[in-house]
Amino acid sequence: MAKPVLLNVAVALALTLVLAVAACGGDDEDSIAVGAAKAHEAALELDGDAARGRKAWTTAGCGACHTLSSSQADGTSGPNLDEVRPSQRLVVDRVALGFRAMPTYQGILTPQQIADVAAYVAASTRR
Ligand code: HEC
Repeated sequence: MAKPVLLNVAVALALTLVLAVAACGGDDEDSIAVGAAKAHEAALELDGDAARGRKAWTTAGCGACHTLSSSQADGTSGPNLDEVRPSQRLVVDRVALGFRAMPTYQGILTPQQIADVAAYVAASTRR
């Protein structure tokens, strides 16, 4: 009895590995990159609204990683945005495309919400 059970376990493990490798395959990553590039392009074309952007900031959870006094956010794993005072363009770049430990928000925020959150961060760090 012991042998077939072990065999089944081995087969199950092998299948899991194959599926895991397939899930990390180039196709998924490519479509995320394409989606991010499209969201980036679209967001750059749109006018952001800072009031709506404030809500997008909260729902997107940016404050978990960033400090931004205007939203009482005190995250520390990302740069302190009160100090960086990023341009609207830099916010659109990072939020749409992601960068190193900064996640892309493509598929999470709409291009309009990306433009809005950029308007909010830029405006709230320039007072
Ligand atoms: C999981 C943590 C995390 C979340 C959530 C997150 N960020 Fe970031 N962010 C980072 C990190 C880390 C960096 C620095 C990336 C690097 O330069 O290596 C960064 C960089 C940035 C930068 C560029 C700052 C600079 O000086 O280069 C901006 C602007 C920014 N984030 C805005 C946002 C906004 C807006 C949101 C919400 C939509 C957000 N981030 C959500 C971690 C996060």
